[in-house]
Amino acid sequence: MVTPYAYFQKEFVPLAEANISVMTHAFNYGTAVFEGIRGNWNEEEKQAYIFRLADHYRRLHQSCRVLKIELPYSIEELCDITVRLVEMCGYQEDVYIRPVAYKSAKALGVRLHDLEDDFLIFIIPFGPYLDIEKGARCGTSSWRRIEDTSIPARAKVNGIYVNSALAKTEAIEHGYDEAIMLNEDGHVSEGSGENIFIVQGGRLITPPSWSNILMGITRDTVITLGREELAIETIERPIDRSELYLADECFMTGTAAHVTPVIEIDHRPVGDGKRGPITAELQRLYFDVMRGKNGKYAHWCTPCHIAR
Ligand SMILES: Cc1ncc(COP(=O)(O)O)c(C=O)c1O
Repeated sequence: MVTPYAYFQKEFVPLAEANISVMTHAFNYGTAVFEGIRGNWNEEEKQAYIFRLADHYRRLHQSCRVLKIELPYSIEELCDITVRLVEMCGYQEDVYIRPVAYKSAKALGVRLHDLEDDFLIFIIPFGPYLDIEKGARCGTSSWRRIEDTSIPARAKVNGIYVNSALAKTEAIEHGYDEAIMLNEDGHVSEGSGENIFIVQGGRLITPPSWSNILMGITRDTVITLGREELAIETIERPIDRSELYLADECFMTGTAAHVTPVIEIDHRPVGDGKRGPITAELQRLYFDVMRGKNGKYAHWCTPCHIAR
């Protein structure tokens, strides 16, 4: 039985009761940081596995440091609260877990200091974000990725997502599935909510930490699986836009997007315009791992017992 609950103001409450005031600082100025975490349903075991839960909360703690948000919970406490919430909600399908640490003060005035903070979590059922079978058609955005000197992309700041929203909507209105954003210097940064990889000559290449990317947990998963399971190293270096057009394969990674093949960029087919073999192999490995089906990576999967 599904009962939507949220963790709100230090309590588990029905989702409908988890509401913030119109005066909340974070609502007015985007002064919040968040995570997107997946709970992956394993049908054979009738059990959900949360993927890389502690790593997401490590990143949330880092984001909080950038925005001077006090998060009075250890990573272990955050993990325990999340497991309890997933189990209380009882979804028997893939879910998306959204923790938010935010400036909760009911106060106007643009700043980060002298404001109260709070923390909440809610959960929604959530299938694949892009077409993981057929792949995505992408367009280079006219919107540039916001620079570390403006709002650091390595922190998952709510307000920064206006940059992603501008790019995503432009891409959809131009008939694409997803945007690829470039940095001010013209090198490739990332998608609106995904990191990007190309495959060239059997090697994986992805933009480095200094390309204004979010240091994706799925990105790290794919780098690890490539190295450990396929003996493929990933080169982290700036990527030119034109390299995208010449890549053998291209794919995007993200908690929402999983590993999604990119089959077309700016109306040019990537490779032969279909999912490539290395992308397919990484997808196969990733989907097994994140559903708790590969014992070697069990430490990445937190089981949740869903009552029937
Ligand atoms: C802008 C951006 N880049 C990359 C990612 C991928 O990060 P992760 O794999 O940790 O979900 C996300 C998703 O959260 C994102 O929003």
